Amino acid sequence: MHTRALADGNAIPLLGLGVWQVPDGPECVDAVRAALELGYRHIDTAQAYGNEASVGEALRASGIPRDEVFVTTKFYPRGDDPAAAAEQSLRLLGLDYVDLYIVHWPAGGPTWAWPGLETAHARGHARSIGVSNFSVAELQELRAVATVQPVVNQVQFNPFVYRRALLEHCEENGIALEAYSPLGTGRHLGDATVAKVAQSVGRTPAQVLIRWCLERSVPVIPKSTRRTRIEENGQVFDFELSDDDLAQLDALDTTGGTGEALERKWW
Ligand code: A2P
Repeated sequence: MHTRALADGNAIPLLGLGVWQVPDGPECVDAVRAALELGYRHIDTAQAYGNEASVGEALRASGIPRDEVFVTTKFYPRGDDPAAAAEQSLRLLGLDYVDLYIVHWPAGGPTWAWPGLETAHARGHARSIGVSNFSVAELQELRAVATVQPVVNQVQFNPFVYRRALLEHCEENGIALEAYSPLGTGRHLGDATVAKVAQSVGRTPAQVLIRWCLERSVPVIPKSTRRTRIEENGQVFDFELSDDDLAQLDALDTTGGTGEALERKWW
C-alpha cells in the first residue's frame, strides 16, 4: 500500500477511486466493489454525489476490515451544520467514522464551515479534516482562524492545470494537495503529448496522467465505473516518468502555475 503521511499523523493511500457522477445504486456498488477487489484501499465520495449509501454497501460487501480502507466524504456547503451533516453521512455510509471529511467548496467564504468540521473531528466522526477547491488566499484566511489545521486540499489537478503556486503553498503549510479529475474527466486522454510519453514508457495515457501526480506525492482519485479501466488505473506503481517526460507534461499547463483552485466558480 503506497501512502502519504498527513500533517496530523494519519496516512492517505496515494491512489483512490473517485465516484463523482456515479449514480447511487448498482453502478456505484459495482465500481467500488471492483476497486476494492483490485486492491484499491481509498474511496472518495461526497454528500453532493448522493451515492454514500452505495459506497457503504460496497464496503460491507467487500468484507475488508474497516481500518484497511480510507474513506473520504465532503460537506455540501449549503448552510447546514457540518457536524450534523457528517452524522448523516455516517448513517448513509454505515460507518462510525470517515477517514477524511472536507469542505467541498468555499461557498459563503472559506471559514464559516470550519468550526463544524472541527466538531466532527473532535467527536471522532472524521479522523482528518480538510478542504476542496480552496485557493492560496482562501487557505490563508482559513489557517488564520483554524484551531485544527486542514491537512488536505483536494483540487482539479493534472498537467493541463498544474497549479504550481497552490501546490507549493500547500507543501509549505502541511497540506497535502489531492488531485481530482486527473484525466481531465477523460478529455486529456487523447492529447498528443500524453500519447507520446505513454508510448515511450509503454503505458496508457491514463496511467501516465495518474503517474504524473504520483511523481509529486500527490494523492489522486481517477474515476471509472468500468472494471478494466479501474484495473488499468491501479497499475501505476511499477514504472516511473523521467525528468524529460515530466518536463514535457509540465509544459501542458494552461494556468500559468496558478495559486487559484478554479478557473471559475460554479456557485
Ligand atoms: P468511465 O467511467 O466510463 O470509465 P477523471 O478521473 O479525470 O474525472 O476522468 C474520468 C473519466 O475518464 C470518466 O469519463 C471515465 O469513464 C474515463 N476513464 C477513466 N479511466 C479511464 C481509462 N483508463 N481509459 C479511458 N477512459 C477512462
